[in-house]
Amino acid sequence: MHLYKLISCVSIANALVIPGPDLEQAFLSNEHGYELGSGYEHGQGYGHEDTVYIQGAGQPHTQRPSRFESVLMARRLLALASTGIASTNFPDPLPEHSWAPREVAGQSIALPEYIADCESATSATGTGDDKDKDQKDGGNPTLLALNIATTFRNTAAGSNISLSIDWWDHLDRTKPVYPGFPLSAAGLPRVTLMGYVEPIEDVDGDAESALQKCYVERHPDSRVWLPHRKGSPHASFWARLVVTQVYWIGGFGDLQQIGWLDVQDWKRVTREGVDGVGDGRGWGDIKLPGE
Ligand SMILES: *[C@@H]1O[C@H](CO)[C@@H](O)[C@H](O)[C@H]1NC(C)=O
Repeated sequence: MHLYKLISCVSIANALVIPGPDLEQAFLSNEHGYELGSGYEHGQGYGHEDTVYIQGAGQPHTQRPSRFESVLMARRLLALASTGIASTNFPDPLPEHSWAPREVAGQSIALPEYIADCESATSATGTGDDKDKDQKDGGNPTLLALNIATTFRNTAAGSNISLSIDWWDHLDRTKPVYPGFPLSAAGLPRVTLMGYVEPIEDVDGDAESALQKCYVERHPDSRVWLPHRKGSPHASFWARLVVTQVYWIGGFGDLQQIGWLDVQDWKRVTREGVDGVGDGRGWGDIKLPGE
């Protein structure tokens, strides 16, 4: 005989909440007006509106990843990502000759942008026995900023930026997070990096070649609008999103962490891991769902 667990799905944006044993009992005892209609007993059905019945009550809950492991997951998400949604604010007032409607002054606009995790390339070719090499802040997404792009016009006018990266296009490769529950993008990780855009001015020669190689590997088409390229349709420059805050939604809150991650850990973790940073593992030591 199966037992079924009642999950109250507060909203798609929030975590599924698995009631504790007492609450679960209360729900299942049906004293609160819930009706366990026919079809639900197979653990596949949906309750009215936002209520889902799930098989497997009584099994121990999966241990959530630690905060540090969540940092590793988030860093891996950045490392594997090639695009993100960047949100910036229009200046207020708009510049005199702006083509934007007056009403958008001061408002945010979210736009997809190319990104690449190439910060380590900018330090990998530092001079000789550069001791700072390993300590160089990582985790700052690299941007090939077009002067004409709205995102970079806004940052040039003083806007900060936040960048959202998700793992949702891997949904088909994942398994349901609960038995009997449909595949759910809401159960997959996403991270939002808050910060500001800073032109990368401290690279030239080998370091710039390494940066360019790293970026073009991720975005072969971007070769056309590389900085200083003759005949490029757009003027561009290398920039980094200097991360100041990291907000993480690992998935459903009973299985994953949701909240602000430690920015120092974010900046210090590497692919290989660093002794003394968290538990010493790197983002190369873990996998994301469906990998
Ligand atoms: C950008 O963010 C910083 C905090 O990192 C804040 O001090 C500053 O006021 C912000 N600038 C704008 C234009 O919102």
